Amino acid sequence: MSVFDSPEAVSSAARDEFVKSAKAAIAAKKRFDVVLSGGRTPENVYRSLVKSDVEWKRVHVWFGDERCVPPVHADSNFHMAAGALLSHVPIPAGNVHRMHGELEAYRAAEMHEIEMKQSLSLDDGEWPRFDLVLLGLGADGHTASLFPDSTALDDDQQLCCATWVEKFKAYRLTLTYPVFDNAAKVLFLACGADKAEAFTLASAETVSAETPPAGRVRPSSGELAWFVDRALADAVRR
Ligand code: 6PG
Repeated sequence: MSVFDSPEAVSSAARDEFVKSAKAAIAAKKRFDVVLSGGRTPENVYRSLVKSDVEWKRVHVWFGDERCVPPVHADSNFHMAAGALLSHVPIPAGNVHRMHGELEAYRAAEMHEIEMKQSLSLDDGEWPRFDLVLLGLGADGHTASLFPDSTALDDDQQLCCATWVEKFKAYRLTLTYPVFDNAAKVLFLACGADKAEAFTLASAETVSAETPPAGRVRPSSGELAWFVDRALADAVRR
């Protein structure tokens, strides 16, 4: 875990990590595949990336989850990322792989899976290897749209699935554990004292019955890092 003085400092460190990962992946294989998260902390990361020297034409942007709304809706994660970053940098439109939240949820998940397989040239049964996955943490322990009690928690077959979220009485679209677990690097960003309990359980060394959904993301051959702010870290110590 890395602790930063403020949410702004968490965002700057995450921006630096993004730039570093992008440069390394582009140097190695001429392409950087990154998974963006929704939420408040990442939005600041995206804004601060506008002026970075990332070679945007080699970047492919994916999303960890999406709400079932049209892309112009205020709740859309794509809409947030487009407003903060994607519409301000020279990234080719075909490199932005949004989930189609405006479609029927199961259809949208299926289409997204097809897009992932094509764009990432995956063979049957092969999982994508994302260079960097940004994830957030909810106070209830969720990450992406993997919420407690969700059927998506047990999905080890699909890359992307539709999942009913009881607390919102709505469907969401989310990537699944095998996808997150196959990433080269997963970076969790979590700020605020209200997330202390979820963080403690999620970042425990071993997975147990108490582990919330976020804590079940465990890359099998990649790195896992937590960037948290001082407010969260202090609340954990109390
Ligand atoms: C979303 C996210 C979600 C988010 C957490 C934390 O679409 O809402 O993907 O999983 O990361 O809820 O959000 P905050 O950073 O806003 O607390």
